Amino acid sequence: CGITAYCGNGFALPFLMQGLSKLEYRGYDSAGVTTLEKDGLKTVKCKGRLKNLEEKLQDFKMEGHVGIGHTRWATHGIPSNLNSHPHTNDDETISLVHNGIIENYRELKEELIQKGYHFQSETDSEVVVHLLDDYYDGDLFEAVKKVLKRIEGSYALCIVSTLEPNKVIVAKKDSPLIIGKADGAYVAASDIPALLEYTKDVYFLADYEMAILQENHIDFFTHEGEPIVKELVNVPYDLEAAKKDGYDTFMLKEIYEQPHVIAETLRGRIVNQKIVLDELNDIDFHQFNKVYFVACGTAYHASLCGSQVLERATKLPVIATVASEFRYNDPLVDEQTLAIFVSQSGETADTLAALRLAKEKGATTIAIANVLGSTISRDANYVLYTCAGPEIAVASTKAYTTQLVLLILLAYYIAQELGKEIDHELIQQLNTIPQYVENILKDHSIFENYAKMLENLHDAYFIGRSLDYASVLEGALKLKEVSYVHADAYVAGELKHGPIALIEDGSVVIAVATQPHIAAKTISNIQETMARGARVILLTTHGEEVKNVENTYYLPDVVPTLQAILVAIPLQLIAYYTACIKGCDVDKPRNLAKSVTVE
Ligand code: G6P
Repeated sequence: CGITAYCGNGFALPFLMQGLSKLEYRGYDSAGVTTLEKDGLKTVKCKGRLKNLEEKLQDFKMEGHVGIGHTRWATHGIPSNLNSHPHTNDDETISLVHNGIIENYRELKEELIQKGYHFQSETDSEVVVHLLDDYYDGDLFEAVKKVLKRIEGSYALCIVSTLEPNKVIVAKKDSPLIIGKADGAYVAASDIPALLEYTKDVYFLADYEMAILQENHIDFFTHEGEPIVKELVNVPYDLEAAKKDGYDTFMLKEIYEQPHVIAETLRGRIVNQKIVLDELNDIDFHQFNKVYFVACGTAYHASLCGSQVLERATKLPVIATVASEFRYNDPLVDEQTLAIFVSQSGETADTLAALRLAKEKGATTIAIANVLGSTISRDANYVLYTCAGPEIAVASTKAYTTQLVLLILLAYYIAQELGKEIDHELIQQLNTIPQYVENILKDHSIFENYAKMLENLHDAYFIGRSLDYASVLEGALKLKEVSYVHADAYVAGELKHGPIALIEDGSVVIAVATQPHIAAKTISNIQETMARGARVILLTTHGEEVKNVENTYYLPDVVPTLQAILVAIPLQLIAYYTACIKGCDVDKPRNLAKSVTVE
């Protein structure tokens, strides 16, 4: 979910709505706003995309100078008008928006129903507004403090009330909330892009902190009510970066940004053939006897690649695991463990919980994040940022390739610090990657043609070995996310242990064979699928002998490890064009959210 809040001398609604439009990537199954009008609270909300709310708002006049907004991704309660936020108490004096999950809402709801409160929705969030009403005794701030003691779970809350009309009270635990100091107003939102049109001066609210926003004044407190002082930070983001730049979709724009953002991520990192990661200067890598990579989704696929590279470069045992498994499987983590958390948003709930668990167990933690100041980046002992810029399309592209770049740098940095032998050819070639990516992008029509093969299919099969297996996992994920073609990735050697039973006349197999020590084996697996009627798209390198394959694309000649970055581009474009041909909403695939801040 995404939330916005405004308290100032202008109208609240324009800020709330532009903010929600920037936050729609966090969820988009319903949206709503409340403003404080002269005659009381006015709330308008509705199911569906933000544009439905915009249309509905045309019938209302909202001129309040204080207000809150919400765009929702359903967790508790189906997407509906009533389940949309903001939620309001029975006598319509308090209204709030919430991002997160109130874990103990059932017992609180029961208690409140017994006291005579009426629930309009099935959401966990609504308990908070009734609880506030219950505790309100002439001082909203005191009531909020009491409520925070009762609720368990995660929350970013923005609260307005007719009882104390010139303020917004906000509180945070385990869900993001950024406050901006704008001209004549204080504003708040779940993420920086929502603030940028109004200000670049922000406060990062931390867990267990709260604030009272007024037109010309702000106060910060702990959840206990102790006053605190917070630092105003100027963020260097450019709002233009969050727009489409003339591309039809954010996904395509972000695919084309890769030469630039890969170069940005490499900037200053290789000096005189040495890798420079100053952020990690004070780590003694000799203390570790194993390394974990923990992440979700695309970031997990980048981790799978990173783990192989790191293991080869350092000879340390490395385990890559998905965060939702790691956190519940009592991982073997102790003071001698290095744990690396990869997350574009830096807010993914499972990854964050896994990070906290690893810290508890004594591990040294490094975050690889894209969003500046995000929770994971702040919670980890050390952080390295990918320089992908804001990624708006739900399906991750430029964040993935920049993660690969940074993970390869990190692997060789650790190897260098441990005094291991370094692959100088690889280090040298890293700086040429942006140009190679640029060249592959010029071949887009080839991949558009490949996509036509998938248009009418229900399934697609991806195969690869070694590092190519991580690549095909990501290729298959991309295809299913945006085009809804069911796609699975297999280790090519496992084909004959099951998946080959699925291959029939007309099946499409997408094979990646870029790793010289194993490419010939994958290519021979391809022949086996062709013998059973499969049509094959092969992404490989020159020098590999390929017979009778209908569609072969040759990748540029770089060292094998770096092929993982290059091959991502054709795989992204195949997924993208398949989705376009099928008329899918590429940037906002059904049922998915850009940032999954709930478990
Ligand atoms: C969601 C997104 C994916 C992303 C995953 C992990 O599922 O739709 O694109 O890979 O979360 O997100 P993170 O921000 O932690 O990288």
